[in-house]
Amino acid sequence: MSTTVITGIGELATNDPARSDEGGLLGLVHDAAVVVEGSRVAWVGPAADAPAADVQVDAGGRAVIPGFVDSHSHLVFAGDRSAEFEARMTGQPYTAGGIRTTVARTRAATDEQLTSHVARLVAEMRAQGTTSVEIKSGYGLSVHDEARSLAVARQFTEDTTFLGAHVVPVEFQGGTTPEDYVDLVTGPMLAAAAPHARWIDVFCEEGAFDVDQARAILAAGSDSGLRGRLHANQLTYGGGVQLACELGLVAVDHCTFLSDLDVESLRDSRTIATLLPGVEFSTRQPYPDARRLLDAGVRVALASDCNPGSCFTSSMALCIALAVREMRMTPAEALHGATAMGAAALARDDVGVLAPGMVADLVLLDAPSYVHLAYRPGVPLVAGVWQAGRPVVPG
Ligand code: NIG
Ligand code: FE
Repeated sequence: MSTTVITGIGELATNDPARSDEGGLLGLVHDAAVVVEGSRVAWVGPAADAPAADVQVDAGGRAVIPGFVDSHSHLVFAGDRSAEFEARMTGQPYTAGGIRTTVARTRAATDEQLTSHVARLVAEMRAQGTTSVEIKSGYGLSVHDEARSLAVARQFTEDTTFLGAHVVPVEFQGGTTPEDYVDLVTGPMLAAAAPHARWIDVFCEEGAFDVDQARAILAAGSDSGLRGRLHANQLTYGGGVQLACELGLVAVDHCTFLSDLDVESLRDSRTIATLLPGVEFSTRQPYPDARRLLDAGVRVALASDCNPGSCFTSSMALCIALAVREMRMTPAEALHGATAMGAAALARDDVGVLAPGMVADLVLLDAPSYVHLAYRPGVPLVAGVWQAGRPVVPG
């Protein structure tokens, strides 16, 4: 198996808890080297002690971080909603209703069109340092279209999420009731989706699905072997976050409108609060209060929520910059949230940390420190990406 040593790393963020005494939350090592063997990290430490390898790459004093783990995205869709964004910027509020526009366009697209569109977005993410991504369905909302959305997503990641409960589609609005749609989601749609999915998600919100419906859908998913996650408290206060904590879900996402009880529930659970600051940026909503969560001891991850409606960015660096500037996370907390905590939010123990045995997902930054991710917003700082040990963006 071929080995590569990346040496001359001015600042290496490992996220390795074993290095936290000296290296803080990010387990920083200065003047470092990393040895990659095949798809895995073989060695991490001071450059002066690095073992020899077949290939040597000199980082020239620049920083290296773990690849971003984007634990929340909706990449399987067709069509464009820039007009909705433009209207929002002139004062229209964001509502969940726009989802139905994308559903119509997604249903009309061919499998090939959907696949090439996802491929383009995944490549866009990779070029910006994202090496692991979760992808949801949720713009099909029929048995056939949800199953094929997940089959498309599966070509790009193991972390696929069945989101048939995104909104009630138009054909169920008149004559039938939302409960009829929940029956479809928990019955034939789940059966068709489950072979292609690892997770099940529900948009628990006014205008989408209430807490009782979310509970029933997550229970049905669990019976089919899917682990639960939840969109909750995005647009309004509600019971979604507490449901997620009660059920012990791995992650609950958005968490924009939180009561004291919600924060206490998160604190007393292992459930990760995944914050999606690109959404508030793109919808002009108030940002979630990350500081309040972190100070309470809640585990916080950051993700993009890349989707055509509420937030069409694939940039984890932008999310980090927003989290630092607008949500009072420290640069270290934000990077940790976008890497190690993103991995935890997907129950992955093989990515998000650079230590021997972990998957070799690394990003070389054109900067002396990870702090530049927030300090230089909007600047393309990714100079190289290795995914499972393979250079996918030349360093
Ligand atoms: O995570 N909240 C629900 N779903 C997406 C938005 C989808 C859309 O507007 O198309 C979200 O923000
Ligand atoms: Fe989402």
